[in-house]
Amino acid sequence: MASANVAIIAGTGVAQQFRGRGRTLKVPTRHGLVTFERLDDVPGVLLLRRHGVGHSVAPHRANYVAFADACARLGLEGCYSTAAVGSLRTDWPVGTLVVCSDFIDATGRQLTRFENEVRHTDFTNPFDLRLRQHLIECGGELGQPVQDAGVYVCTDGPRYETPAEVSMYRTLGGDVVGMTAGSEAIAMREAGVPYAALAIVTNLASGLSPRPLSHGEVEEATKGSSEGIANILFRACERLRNG
Ligand code: HPA
Repeated sequence: MASANVAIIAGTGVAQQFRGRGRTLKVPTRHGLVTFERLDDVPGVLLLRRHGVGHSVAPHRANYVAFADACARLGLEGCYSTAAVGSLRTDWPVGTLVVCSDFIDATGRQLTRFENEVRHTDFTNPFDLRLRQHLIECGGELGQPVQDAGVYVCTDGPRYETPAEVSMYRTLGGDVVGMTAGSEAIAMREAGVPYAALAIVTNLASGLSPRPLSHGEVEEATKGSSEGIANILFRACERLRNG
Protein backbone atom coordinates (compact mmCIF):
# COMPACT_ATOMS: atom_id res chain seq x y z
CA MET A 1 0.00 0.00 0.00
CA ALA A 2 1.32 3.45 -0.90
CA SER A 3 1.85 5.58 2.19
CA ALA A 4 5.27 7.20 2.13
CA ASN A 5 5.78 10.71 0.92
CA VAL A 6 8.16 11.85 -1.76
CA ALA A 7 9.39 15.38 -2.54
CA ILE A 8 9.91 17.11 -5.84
CA ILE A 9 12.19 20.13 -5.94
CA ALA A 10 11.11 22.18 -8.92
CA GLY A 11 13.35 24.77 -10.49
CA THR A 12 13.12 27.41 -13.18
CA GLY A 13 10.14 27.01 -15.47
CA VAL A 14 8.88 23.70 -14.11
CA ALA A 15 7.82 25.25 -10.78
CA GLN A 16 5.26 27.35 -12.69
CA GLN A 17 3.67 24.12 -13.87
CA PHE A 18 2.32 23.70 -10.32
CA ARG A 19 1.02 27.22 -9.80
CA GLY A 20 -1.66 27.54 -7.15
CA ARG A 21 -2.44 23.86 -6.88
CA GLY A 22 -1.28 23.06 -3.38
CA ARG A 23 -1.78 23.44 0.36
CA THR A 24 1.36 24.27 2.33
CA LEU A 25 3.25 22.27 4.91
CA LYS A 26 5.81 24.26 6.89
CA VAL A 27 8.70 22.31 8.40
CA PRO A 28 11.02 24.03 10.90
CA THR A 29 14.63 22.84 10.78
CA ARG A 30 17.88 23.80 12.49
CA HIS A 31 18.77 25.69 9.32
CA GLY A 32 15.49 27.49 8.69
CA LEU A 33 11.84 27.02 7.83
CA VAL A 34 11.06 25.00 4.70
CA THR A 35 7.70 25.30 2.97
CA PHE A 36 6.36 22.38 0.95
CA GLU A 37 3.11 22.33 -1.01
CA ARG A 38 0.85 19.30 -1.03
CA LEU A 39 -0.42 18.62 -4.52
CA ASP A 40 -4.12 17.81 -4.25
CA ASP A 41 -4.29 15.68 -7.34
CA VAL A 42 -1.04 13.77 -6.77
CA PRO A 43 -1.16 11.94 -3.44
CA GLY A 44 1.93 11.74 -1.29
CA VAL A 45 3.96 14.23 -3.31
CA LEU A 46 5.34 17.34 -1.63
CA LEU A 47 6.48 20.17 -3.85
CA LEU A 48 9.38 22.41 -2.88
CA ARG A 49 9.98 25.50 -4.99
CA ARG A 50 13.74 25.84 -5.08
CA HIS A 51 13.62 29.54 -5.90
CA GLY A 52 10.69 30.36 -3.64
CA VAL A 53 7.32 31.70 -4.68
CA GLY A 54 7.75 34.16 -7.57
CA HIS A 55 11.33 33.00 -8.21
CA SER A 56 12.86 35.38 -5.66
CA VAL A 57 15.71 33.19 -4.33
CA ALA A 58 18.88 32.97 -6.47
CA PRO A 59 20.65 29.60 -6.74
CA HIS A 60 23.58 30.70 -4.56
CA ARG A 61 21.12 31.78 -1.83
CA ALA A 62 18.92 28.66 -1.73
CA ASN A 63 19.01 26.91 1.64
CA TYR A 64 19.98 23.43 0.43
CA VAL A 65 20.88 22.11 3.88
CA ALA A 66 17.49 23.16 5.25
CA PHE A 67 15.74 21.48 2.27
CA ALA A 68 17.54 18.25 3.09
CA ASP A 69 16.92 18.60 6.83
CA ALA A 70 13.21 19.01 6.16
CA CYS A 71 13.07 15.96 3.87
CA ALA A 72 14.89 13.89 6.48
CA ARG A 73 12.68 15.19 9.27
CA LEU A 74 9.55 14.17 7.37
CA GLY A 75 11.06 10.72 6.79
CA LEU A 76 10.55 11.02 3.05
CA GLU A 77 11.19 8.03 0.85
CA GLY A 78 13.24 10.21 -1.50
CA CYS A 79 13.48 13.45 -3.39
CA TYR A 80 13.49 14.08 -7.12
CA SER A 81 14.47 17.40 -8.59
CA THR A 82 14.41 19.19 -11.91
CA ALA A 83 17.16 21.53 -12.94
CA ALA A 84 17.65 23.76 -15.97
CA VAL A 85 21.12 23.33 -17.43
CA GLY A 86 23.33 24.56 -20.21
CA SER A 87 24.72 21.82 -22.44
CA LEU A 88 28.49 21.45 -22.67
CA ARG A 89 28.10 19.26 -25.77
CA THR A 90 26.56 20.15 -29.09
CA ASP A 91 25.12 16.63 -29.51
CA TRP A 92 22.83 17.31 -26.52
CA PRO A 93 20.65 20.13 -27.87
CA VAL A 94 17.94 22.20 -26.19
CA GLY A 95 15.19 19.93 -24.87
CA THR A 96 17.49 17.00 -24.01
CA LEU A 97 16.58 15.40 -20.68
CA VAL A 98 19.47 14.06 -18.62
CA VAL A 99 19.34 11.80 -15.58
CA CYS A 100 22.42 13.04 -13.75
CA SER A 101 24.85 10.33 -12.69
CA ASP A 102 27.72 12.35 -11.22
CA PHE A 103 28.71 15.92 -10.51
CA ILE A 104 31.69 18.23 -10.32
CA ASP A 105 31.34 20.81 -7.57
CA ALA A 106 32.74 24.08 -8.94
CA THR A 107 30.73 26.27 -6.57
CA GLY A 108 33.18 26.97 -3.79
CA ARG A 109 30.16 26.81 -1.46
CA GLN A 110 31.01 25.61 2.03
CA LEU A 111 27.99 23.39 2.17
CA THR A 112 27.70 20.72 4.85
CA ARG A 113 25.46 19.75 7.73
CA PHE A 114 28.57 18.57 9.59
CA GLU A 115 29.92 21.98 10.57
CA ASN A 116 30.97 20.94 14.05
CA GLU A 117 32.01 17.32 13.70
CA VAL A 118 34.40 15.29 11.58
CA ARG A 119 32.25 13.27 9.18
CA HIS A 120 33.33 12.12 5.71
CA THR A 121 30.52 10.95 3.46
CA ASP A 122 30.80 8.52 0.56
CA PHE A 123 29.95 9.99 -2.85
CA THR A 124 30.74 7.04 -5.09
CA ASN A 125 27.19 7.26 -6.45
CA PRO A 126 26.28 10.93 -5.89
CA PHE A 127 22.76 10.44 -7.25
CA ASP A 128 20.67 7.56 -5.89
CA LEU A 129 20.77 4.56 -8.23
CA ARG A 130 17.20 3.42 -7.60
CA LEU A 131 15.71 6.89 -8.13
CA ARG A 132 17.81 7.33 -11.26
CA GLN A 133 16.49 4.05 -12.62
CA HIS A 134 12.91 5.18 -11.98
CA LEU A 135 13.49 8.39 -13.96
CA ILE A 136 15.00 6.45 -16.87
CA GLU A 137 12.14 3.92 -16.92
CA CYS A 138 9.37 6.49 -16.51
CA GLY A 139 10.80 8.71 -19.27
CA GLY A 140 10.86 5.74 -21.62
CA GLU A 141 7.34 4.63 -20.70
CA LEU A 142 5.99 8.12 -21.35
CA GLY A 143 7.69 8.35 -24.73
CA GLN A 144 10.24 10.87 -23.50
CA PRO A 145 13.59 9.13 -23.66
CA VAL A 146 16.29 10.54 -21.41
CA GLN A 147 20.07 10.43 -21.43
CA ASP A 148 20.61 7.82 -18.73
CA ALA A 149 23.83 9.34 -17.40
CA GLY A 150 25.54 12.70 -17.41
CA VAL A 151 28.05 14.66 -15.39
CA TYR A 152 26.55 17.85 -13.92
CA VAL A 153 28.99 20.68 -13.31
CA CYS A 154 27.64 22.84 -10.49
CA THR A 155 28.76 26.47 -10.54
CA ASP A 156 28.01 29.13 -7.96
CA GLY A 157 26.38 31.55 -10.36
CA PRO A 158 24.35 33.63 -10.48
CA ARG A 159 26.24 34.68 -13.58
CA TYR A 160 26.56 32.30 -16.51
CA GLU A 161 29.94 30.89 -17.47
CA THR A 162 32.58 32.32 -19.75
CA PRO A 163 33.44 30.40 -22.95
CA ALA A 164 36.83 29.50 -21.44
CA GLU A 165 35.14 28.03 -18.35
CA VAL A 166 32.77 26.05 -20.55
CA SER A 167 35.70 24.66 -22.52
CA MET A 168 37.47 23.75 -19.25
CA TYR A 169 34.38 22.05 -17.77
CA ARG A 170 33.95 19.96 -20.91
CA THR A 171 37.63 18.98 -20.84
CA LEU A 172 37.20 17.96 -17.20
CA GLY A 173 34.41 15.56 -18.16
CA GLY A 174 31.27 17.64 -17.65
CA ASP A 175 28.21 17.16 -19.83
CA VAL A 176 25.91 19.89 -18.51
CA VAL A 177 26.29 22.94 -16.31
CA GLY A 178 23.89 24.39 -13.75
CA MET A 179 23.88 26.09 -10.37
CA THR A 180 21.87 23.86 -8.05
CA ALA A 181 21.78 20.06 -8.35
CA GLY A 182 25.33 19.45 -7.12
CA SER A 183 24.61 21.32 -3.90
CA GLU A 184 21.31 19.52 -3.45
CA ALA A 185 23.01 16.17 -3.97
CA ILE A 186 25.56 17.01 -1.26
CA ALA A 187 22.95 18.19 1.24
CA MET A 188 20.61 15.26 0.59
CA ARG A 189 23.32 12.63 0.81
CA GLU A 190 24.65 14.05 4.06
CA ALA A 191 21.10 13.97 5.42
CA GLY A 192 20.54 10.41 4.19
CA VAL A 193 17.75 11.31 1.76
CA PRO A 194 17.79 9.38 -1.56
CA TYR A 195 17.98 11.99 -4.32
CA ALA A 196 18.08 12.12 -8.13
CA ALA A 197 17.99 15.03 -10.56
CA LEU A 198 16.41 15.26 -14.00
CA ALA A 199 18.20 18.01 -15.90
CA ILE A 200 16.62 19.77 -18.86
CA VAL A 201 18.92 21.39 -21.41
CA THR A 202 17.62 24.92 -21.91
CA ASN A 203 20.54 26.29 -23.90
CA LEU A 204 23.93 25.45 -25.30
CA ALA A 205 26.46 26.77 -22.79
CA SER A 206 28.24 30.05 -23.31
CA GLY A 207 30.52 30.02 -26.35
CA LEU A 208 28.64 27.06 -27.87
CA SER A 209 25.45 29.09 -28.13
CA PRO A 210 25.15 31.42 -31.14
CA ARG A 211 23.83 34.23 -28.91
CA PRO A 212 24.33 35.68 -25.41
CA LEU A 213 22.53 33.76 -22.66
CA SER A 214 19.55 35.14 -20.79
CA HIS A 215 17.29 33.93 -18.00
CA GLY A 216 14.34 34.61 -20.29
CA GLU A 217 15.69 32.10 -22.80
CA VAL A 218 16.13 29.52 -20.04
CA GLU A 219 12.57 30.04 -18.77
CA GLU A 220 11.16 29.95 -22.29
CA ALA A 221 12.97 26.69 -23.07
CA THR A 222 11.60 24.94 -19.98
CA LYS A 223 8.01 25.99 -20.72
CA GLY A 224 7.59 23.62 -23.65
CA SER A 225 8.92 20.64 -21.69
CA SER A 226 7.63 21.34 -18.22
CA GLU A 227 4.40 19.35 -18.48
CA GLY A 228 6.30 16.32 -19.79
CA ILE A 229 8.91 16.66 -17.05
CA ALA A 230 6.20 16.90 -14.38
CA ASN A 231 4.59 13.72 -15.74
CA ILE A 232 7.89 11.82 -15.56
CA LEU A 233 8.42 13.05 -12.00
CA PHE A 234 4.88 12.15 -10.88
CA ARG A 235 5.21 8.67 -12.29
CA ALA A 236 8.63 8.25 -10.68
CA CYS A 237 7.19 9.42 -7.34
CA GLU A 238 4.39 6.91 -7.61
CA ARG A 239 6.89 4.13 -8.35
CA LEU A 240 8.96 5.08 -5.33
CA ARG A 241 5.92 5.30 -3.05
CA ASN A 242 4.79 1.88 -4.16
CA GLY A 243 8.21 0.44 -3.37
N1 HPA B 1 24.82 27.73 -17.08
C1 HPA B 1 24.51 27.60 -15.77
N2 HPA B 1 23.28 27.37 -15.36
C2 HPA B 1 22.32 27.26 -16.28
C3 HPA B 1 22.57 27.39 -17.64
C4 HPA B 1 23.91 27.63 -18.07
O1 HPA B 1 24.22 27.75 -19.28
N3 HPA B 1 21.39 27.22 -18.29
C5 HPA B 1 20.45 27.01 -17.33
N4 HPA B 1 21.00 27.02 -16.11
